[in-house]
Amino acid sequence: LKVLYLSTEVEPFAKTGGLADVAGSLPRALAAAGVEIAIAMPRYKFIEEGTYVTDFPVPMKDRIETAIVRQSSIKATSNPDDSLEVPVFFIDNYHYFYRDNIYGYADDGDRWGFFSRAVLEMLEPIDFIPDIIHFNDWQLGPAAVMLKEQYGHRKGYDAIASVLTIHNLKYQGLFGPAMLDFLGLPGEIFHVDKAEFYGQVNFLKAGIVYADLINTVSPTYAEEIKTAQYGEQLEGLLKSREGQLFGILNGINIDQYNAGTDPYLPHHFSPDYIEGKKQVKKSLQQELGLPVSDVPLLGVVSRLVDQKGFDLIGQIAHALLQKGLQIVVVGEGDPYYENLFRHLEESFPEQVRAYIGFNKPLAQRVYGGSDLFLMPSRYEPCGLGQMIAFRYGSVPIVRATGGLADTVFDYDQNREKGNGFVFKDYESSALLDAIERSLRLYEQKNDWNKLVRHLMTLDFSWARSAGDYMAFYRRALQRVGRL
Ligand code: GLC
Repeated sequence: LKVLYLSTEVEPFAKTGGLADVAGSLPRALAAAGVEIAIAMPRYKFIEEGTYVTDFPVPMKDRIETAIVRQSSIKATSNPDDSLEVPVFFIDNYHYFYRDNIYGYADDGDRWGFFSRAVLEMLEPIDFIPDIIHFNDWQLGPAAVMLKEQYGHRKGYDAIASVLTIHNLKYQGLFGPAMLDFLGLPGEIFHVDKAEFYGQVNFLKAGIVYADLINTVSPTYAEEIKTAQYGEQLEGLLKSREGQLFGILNGINIDQYNAGTDPYLPHHFSPDYIEGKKQVKKSLQQELGLPVSDVPLLGVVSRLVDQKGFDLIGQIAHALLQKGLQIVVVGEGDPYYENLFRHLEESFPEQVRAYIGFNKPLAQRVYGGSDLFLMPSRYEPCGLGQMIAFRYGSVPIVRATGGLADTVFDYDQNREKGNGFVFKDYESSALLDAIERSLRLYEQKNDWNKLVRHLMTLDFSWARSAGDYMAFYRRALQRVGRL
């Protein structure tokens, strides 16, 4: 099985969110399971890796662009004796990708359109004709269209099956009708059954229409997006493709997220030695200039956007802080939420720290040093934070939605069941109630410590989901009549 995996961000080369974590870890797990897989991504200005392989012309609307291919690789496993690697092909083009940021430019549609065409043109020059092309998110929607509409007649291409993973349905990539022409796509596909969406071109919709199979990153989110509440106006289309729509839970890289070896932690700990966690908490408090104390410490590591439900925290912040606990936030995003947390820090300097920005070492210490981990998401396709929190014995408090509903189960003290605190309604009172329940357990040290140890033994590695992806790929091959 030969797979080409396409993403606009891949850890460790470029990252803004969970997509990069997945793109940097799922292909490794698949390679370790025997899949012949390669990754392709754009080469942004800040990427230094990659040695020249080849270059080739990419026909755009009224000119020919050049794509330069450079290659690097990531190791498939953390075992030093294992030499298995996943090749990473970078598409280099000065005009489109020699920039400081990944997203946020007026010509983003053109950029991903170019990337889409370039990766399809690349297969012959690099001599890698896959069985499966795996697209991720709206940016690769055009590639799904091009593959079916324009490359089917090319030798070798006709047998390629395509799959599209939706990491977040909210981001769809909407552009004016002229975009189709720019992409070199026929005008006929500006149709409600294809790429047209309320008078605009919708990249994600196009991908959903054209990919052989589609999946999202958790089973619950795969169900939710067929409803008006979560469907972002694509619920009708998704419902019509429900036979080809699957939910496969993400995993995390358990070598990278390991409290026993994490290079960013000043002390290490494990299920057999959770005392080390207290040391991490203490040094975190010192590092941030918070009083060193045994009060519960609540952590947030997240993109600060509407999706994540921080308005609920804003509504109950004062009531919460009256309880004497501490809150530490690491993240960046919407200025509204950045200011909310900055403001809380100013008003409660003994209890709140807000680090606005992306800081991986500090983020790891927040996982390691926090007692509780807050994810009150409005919606959550999968969520990786809760799984990382488990690994570091930080008890998640989540809303039951998407991947959170598939991974976090409400703690029941009588039956000693559950692995976190869960609320259902998107209401600040429901969040407050869940936090209060967690604080009561925090006072009962025996049961609390038992829960912390239990969390650290949970397995959210990629091993299981990698098997699910292999079955998914096989299904895609069946769909194009190859199995
Ligand atoms: C997006 C989603 C998040 C998911 C991640 C990786 O960031 O918002 O829920 O975990 O993609 O699939």
